[in-house]
Amino acid sequence: MRARAATFIASAADPRGFPPADLPEVAIAGRSNVGKSSLINSLVGAPVARTSSTPGRTRLINWFRIENAKAAALHLVDLPGYGYAKVPVDLRASWRPLIESYLTGRPVLRGVVVLFDARRGAEDEERDLIAWLLAAGVAVIPVLTKVDKLAKNKRKPVAAALRRDLALPRDPLLVSALSGEGVDDLWRSIFNLAIRRDGAPDQTPA
Ligand code: GTP
Ligand code: MG
Repeated sequence: MRARAATFIASAADPRGFPPADLPEVAIAGRSNVGKSSLINSLVGAPVARTSSTPGRTRLINWFRIENAKAAALHLVDLPGYGYAKVPVDLRASWRPLIESYLTGRPVLRGVVVLFDARRGAEDEERDLIAWLLAAGVAVIPVLTKVDKLAKNKRKPVAAALRRDLALPRDPLLVSALSGEGVDDLWRSIFNLAIRRDGAPDQTPA
């Protein structure tokens, strides 16, 4: 079992509802339906985040507290998906400021896992998000997800092409919430990003 504990902490529709910034945080971002909530469930090994085949399922920011085998703790943060055309315009207009206020105003944010659908690659929204995060100096863990839908011999070439295309700092991890492939690697990458080398939770505001 990877997680010693995984607990739902809070949901928020605006910054007043954000929980106390008392642990390092790693957020999961990506377009609607790319599999953010499924991946969180796969990481923690329990159905803590709601998933759905209807895009736009997650409309609030959701915080989960997770702990690794060494009892280091962090918040995993499920962000609402972007880029879903059928969502009413007023709802979309409220999502963007919500995500931006989180990404710009959260002192304990240590990095963002950006998900790309293995069969769709990068579209305008992904380009914008990656450019914005890199310019803001936010650490990015790029992930190609739903790789179970790609033939094995296509996975590495697709990941390498995405890295070149977006000038990513590293090759995207190859992950599937369905098969569990790559989930342990992602778990380790998330903790490496969030927790200082001495193993103590980093609680210093950035
Ligand atoms: P929003 O909350 O709407 O932004 O979506 P989300 O990114 O949280 O996606 P969610 O986890 O709800 O998954 C969307 C759909 O993709 C569901 O039907 C999942 O079963 C499916 N899915 C998620 N991960 C995988 C995967 O690794 N492989 C496959 N084949 N399907 C997946
Ligand atoms: Mg979701």
